[in-house]
Amino acid sequence: MNLSDVRGLIQIKAPEFGRDRVLNSARTVEDYRRAARRALPRSVFDYVDGGADEETSLRANVEAFRRWRFLPNSLVDVSTPDLSTTVLGRSVAAPLGLAPTGYTKMISPAGEPAVARSAAAKGLPYTLSTMATTSLEDLATAVPEVERWFQLYVWKDRELNEDLVRRAWDAGYSVLEVAIDTAVSGYRVRDVKNGFTIPPALTLSSLLDIGTRPAYWTQMLRNPALEFANVSSGGSAGYTIENITAQFDPAVSWDDLSRLRELWPGKLLVKGPVSARDALRARGKGLDGVHLSNHGGRQLDRAIAPVDLLPSVRAAVGEEFTVLVDSGVRHGSDIATAVALGADACLVGRPYLYALAAAGTEGVEGVLQILLDQFRRTLQLLGVTSVAQLRAQGPELLVKD
Ligand code: FNR
Repeated sequence: MNLSDVRGLIQIKAPEFGRDRVLNSARTVEDYRRAARRALPRSVFDYVDGGADEETSLRANVEAFRRWRFLPNSLVDVSTPDLSTTVLGRSVAAPLGLAPTGYTKMISPAGEPAVARSAAAKGLPYTLSTMATTSLEDLATAVPEVERWFQLYVWKDRELNEDLVRRAWDAGYSVLEVAIDTAVSGYRVRDVKNGFTIPPALTLSSLLDIGTRPAYWTQMLRNPALEFANVSSGGSAGYTIENITAQFDPAVSWDDLSRLRELWPGKLLVKGPVSARDALRARGKGLDGVHLSNHGGRQLDRAIAPVDLLPSVRAAVGEEFTVLVDSGVRHGSDIATAVALGADACLVGRPYLYALAAAGTEGVEGVLQILLDQFRRTLQLLGVTSVAQLRAQGPELLVKD
């Protein structure tokens, strides 16, 4: 072998930095999580990454998906698997959606519109939170092409609820989901220990942080102050997280759901760790579905992993009622497991926030593409050609470890 042969074997690429490095090297959700840890101040990363109390549910959510093993079909032509499906009457590119997360502009000034744009690019629905830093109307104007859902926290001020619901309908949101797991705020120990506040305060530790995460702080200081855009009037001092969550109604009941059912002409769901018994009750109240969630382990610690609720809830409500699930989805195989257990679709929260922090809009598209590629490959290796088949064949394809 002479020198020119050796030269042909050597492939040294110019080093990449920042976003490009993340985008070109991330292969898993965990890669984006690590990149987010490098990009964000510790207190902001912990706010996204952390859970309530001992973080038992946070860990268990991810583990619950991994207790299932696949039992594939053999020798099936899987050259062109069909990932598309219908969720709540609308066609979507895959059984995947983006869950609501409050205060997204704290993660990146690009905020909710960037996330919604990435969802639209992948043909997936996006849920705006009541606690968003972009208003219902501004999101609809910025990203009219996205399938928009709205998540409502029920306020003591009943007029505010009705106003939000009307605004959501007027701005073209097709689904309203009511979070029913937030009677009081979960106790997030990391946030308490970090002295974390919303809006972030310039404390001694955040000032020290400016030295270690200059890019984050420069972009934050260059952009307008953050606000809870759906509930405070533009630019005014508005609310802080403490006085805002104190306005959520701890007495919210099934009667409130009946009232919302009268008000909301679109699809209506409840979001929380809903038992089979309560899912039946929701169906009886005329709701269109349930979104099984323990808020990603951020509310009631030790709440059951939502994926473990799927078999009993699906058996109770029958095939037509919509059942969604989130909390702990980190791989396309998790989506396959959930659908096989009876879910119509899964949603993700943290995965897209990690990607947004690490690489902005392109990061969100990147992480969604990773999940979709993993899901496609899982279907092919399972010998399943469509989401419809996965649902129909369901538990035959799974064995509990
Ligand atoms: C959330 N979640 C949430 N849920 C909700 O109904 N309204 C909200 O405003 C928020 N805000 C919020 C902020 C952050 C930083 C996170 C991580 C989560 C919960 C969210 O909708 C979803 O249920 C979980 O994120 C799903 O779990 P994974 O995918 O994060 O494991």
